[in-house]
Amino acid sequence: MANSIQAIRGMNDILPDQTPAWQYLEDRVRGVLHAYGYREIRLPILEKTELFQRSIGEVTDIVEKEMYSFEDRNGDSLTLRPEGTAGCVRAGIEQGLLYNQQQRLWYMGPMFRHERPQKGRYRQFHQIGVEVFGMAGPDIDAELILMTARMWRALGLTDVSLQLNSLGTPEARGRYREILVAYLGQHRAALDEDSLRRLDTNPLRILDSKNPAMQALIEAAPRLSDHLDEESRQHFARLCALLDAAGLAYELNPRLVRGLDYYGRTVFEWVTTRLGAQGTVCAGGRYDGLVEFLGGRPTPAVGFAMGIERLIALLEETGVSFPSPDPHVYLVTVGERAEAHGLVLADRLRDQLPGLRVLLNGGGGSFKNQFKRADKSGAQLALVLGDSELDAGQVGLKPLRGGDQETVAEAELVARLQGLLAAHAGQ
Ligand code: HAM
Repeated sequence: MANSIQAIRGMNDILPDQTPAWQYLEDRVRGVLHAYGYREIRLPILEKTELFQRSIGEVTDIVEKEMYSFEDRNGDSLTLRPEGTAGCVRAGIEQGLLYNQQQRLWYMGPMFRHERPQKGRYRQFHQIGVEVFGMAGPDIDAELILMTARMWRALGLTDVSLQLNSLGTPEARGRYREILVAYLGQHRAALDEDSLRRLDTNPLRILDSKNPAMQALIEAAPRLSDHLDEESRQHFARLCALLDAAGLAYELNPRLVRGLDYYGRTVFEWVTTRLGAQGTVCAGGRYDGLVEFLGGRPTPAVGFAMGIERLIALLEETGVSFPSPDPHVYLVTVGERAEAHGLVLADRLRDQLPGLRVLLNGGGGSFKNQFKRADKSGAQLALVLGDSELDAGQVGLKPLRGGDQETVAEAELVARLQGLLAAHAGQ
């Protein structure tokens, strides 16, 4: 036998047993998005490398070491999207969706980052993301956050909490950056290798370090919240007031800085303690400068993205159950006449009982074999068609989870099925 080829590390197959959870999550989240008037946008998975370099930032982890970039046959450098915001902004500018307009958009799909795979961190992972353009005030920040809270309720998730911070304007952040670099510079000896490197390139990210040896130093560092510009301070105060008025709890986290360069003012993360190290299930913030930076007219913008794999892990951890895709009915047919009639009968049932899931036996087999398959399929009922049933204009009906077999006239089958399935659903 030839060597079998395996999937790429960190890129998962999502098997039929797992897809009910994905569909549950996607349906519920989509329902909330539509209830808030958000519209779907579908974007390419490949973009020019430059788009991500410019928007996410040259000295971020993603651009420095995590992108799947390659030259295509024309010699252009392309990259598998590591996130959705950059492509959405690119499309918004290119398609004229942004100028003088308000847009509430969402998207869903795979993202790619060459990170070290571990539980909750993959190289191909999936996000549902939201981007809003053309609204500068904190009211829309609040709407986004309240919408995510509704999503957790719709999904049946309780163990998530909201962390909130403001990064101020780029100018205020620039001033703070100098203050921070001066402070960290005085403590060079205490910095780890990563932080020493970041001291010159991206010092704010040092605040995000998870290294236990650096926590005391970080705790004592000057705080960005003490150096915000006045407008950002007011924006943030109003956002907090709106969340308070809506009764939504949050924690102010002055160390929340995010790993992408495009953010300014509001940033937030939803975190859980139930998933170990990869506990951030949803994250986002404001990026008012990005549209202009990528060549559009100045346009305020804010958004977030949630990690589907992490949310599913949390749903499983929480014990949420998902709607079963198992068939209601398995149709057993023995003999050529029954096989032919079975195809027609199955379709008639699907027509007359919308939503009914009918699995038709395929590939022949004895009664015994077919019943084994029926059992394995998870169906509640087997319908049995053989020559004798056909001759009598009847169908055998056998509950597969206990109960007696009966025979019904084909003309009464729909009514009988309705009764049986309703009784089953009510159990
Ligand atoms: P992000 O924080 O890089 O932000 O990713 C958002 C979420 O995607 C994370 O909180 C996490 O749940 C999930 N995620 C990220 N990387 C991985 C991974 N390797 N494996 C599994 N899940 C992962 C963004 O991507 C921004 N574009 C969000 C945004 C939209 N900001 C404004 N608009």
